[in-house]
Amino acid sequence: MELKLKPAALLLLLALWCCCSAQRIDYVSPHRGSYNGATRLTIVGDGFAQENQFQLNPADDTFGNRVTLVSDTLSVPCDVERDSTHGKQVMCYTRAMPKDQYVVHVSVDGVPIPDSSICGGNPKHYQCSFYTVPYRTPSIVSLDPVSGPPGTLVTARGWIFTDVYGSNTAVSSNGLDVRFLRSLPDKKLYRVTTIPDKLSMFQTFAEVTGVSPSNGSVMGGTLLTIQGRFFDQTDRPARVLVGGRPCEIQSVSDESITCRTARQDVDMKNMTVYPGGRGLKIELWNMTKPRHLIDIYNYDENTTGYWTNWIDSLPYAFPDIDYFSGRSKGFFVPPTSSNYTIYLNCDDRCDLYLSNSSRPEDKARTESLL
Ligand SMILES: *[C@@H]1O[C@H](CO)[C@@H](O)[C@H](O)[C@H]1NC(C)=O
Ligand SMILES: *[C@@H]1O[C@H](CO)[C@@H](O)[C@H](O)[C@H]1NC(C)=O
Ligand SMILES: *[C@@H]1O[C@H](CO)[C@@H](O)[C@H](O)[C@H]1NC(C)=O
Ligand SMILES: *[C@@H]1O[C@H](CO)[C@@H](O)[C@H](O)[C@H]1NC(C)=O
Ligand SMILES: *[C@@H]1O[C@H](CO)[C@@H](O)[C@H](O)[C@H]1NC(C)=O
Ligand SMILES: *[C@@H]1O[C@H](CO)[C@@H](O)[C@H](O)[C@H]1NC(C)=O
Repeated sequence: MELKLKPAALLLLLALWCCCSAQRIDYVSPHRGSYNGATRLTIVGDGFAQENQFQLNPADDTFGNRVTLVSDTLSVPCDVERDSTHGKQVMCYTRAMPKDQYVVHVSVDGVPIPDSSICGGNPKHYQCSFYTVPYRTPSIVSLDPVSGPPGTLVTARGWIFTDVYGSNTAVSSNGLDVRFLRSLPDKKLYRVTTIPDKLSMFQTFAEVTGVSPSNGSVMGGTLLTIQGRFFDQTDRPARVLVGGRPCEIQSVSDESITCRTARQDVDMKNMTVYPGGRGLKIELWNMTKPRHLIDIYNYDENTTGYWTNWIDSLPYAFPDIDYFSGRSKGFFVPPTSSNYTIYLNCDDRCDLYLSNSSRPEDKARTESLL
């Protein structure tokens, strides 16, 4: 009995020794990637867990291969892609990490591969290092326009690298075999929205193309049809105001809303404009040199050099023309009660008037903010 057991024990010990000595990391590819994560790393070596061959227990997070990228000050997990991982290769996606040099560490079933087995005992060797660098960080520095109806063509500028984004197309039109997974947008591209705690970079909106009939009773009850595009009630129900009064919705489709008008409020009769539409109306007069800013209030569409434009958002860069005057007006609808700071930046002079109501007649000049 004793004699028979010995070779079996010996064999087991040998097998164990083989397995552990084979665990090693040879190199990582690529060596450079994004600050903002989503760089796909391939780690080549031996003795990694065969992840795709069995169902892993998701509750036990030491099971299988764990990749950590370690700098002198930080340790950041790299999320393993199981389908592309086997005994000689681990594939993982980086997370956002500041600019630095990172050494690749792998734990197999909770046991770290020792430094002595990382790049032949030299873990900081270039072959086992990953650097986050600006020139491998896909980024977006500008977006134009920042709003429009669905289907608007948008131009994004930055380090783009490829036009393959999340699709299965093999190669980018510039010939590079890379795909865009995540970019680092410039912070100035984020805008607040009326949806609480949400930032966005692009705002879509519906369009109104017509209203019929164009007149009806002040006593209300007129069935109104509003034609347009992209009417949508995903975020909130459609709401129609006619002369500041709610128009009772009868039906809503993508391209038309019908509603029944309310009795017209007598107090509203002397209102000339109503909040509701988006944007600002800009009026400009070429070749004008007013002595005082206030003179511009007397300009109208008959003053020479007049032209006008609707703009969708601020800031707005005026065309590069000399000696022009301008007047922009619109409604500010605060998304929430708060203190707001409005910054004016103009050449040479400007003023801001605010009304304490929705009536332009109540406007008053604000204290200079420049
Ligand atoms: C009132 O509407 C009718 C029919 O839509 C139109 O013919 C008429 O010109 C409108 N009147 C005014 C003052 O807009
Ligand atoms: C609007 O009506 C009020 C009274 O309801 C009046 O005091 C005011 O002058 C009117 N404004 C205009 C612009 O007609
Ligand atoms: C501009 O001139 C036209 C034609 O003379 C006139 O009908 C219109 O009322 C004028 N507009 C203003 C704001 O004075
Ligand atoms: C005002 O100047 C701009 C830029 O030179 C020009 O495009 C526009 O046609 C001018 N408008 C008028 C009414 O003179
Ligand atoms: C707004 O400013 C006033 C005066 O400085 C201050 O009393 C108030 O608490 C501020 N409100 C908010 C919401 O910050
Ligand atoms: C708005 O300001 C005007 C003076 O410019 C004042 O007469 C009026 O009562 C104010 N209205 C409100 C709603 O505060």
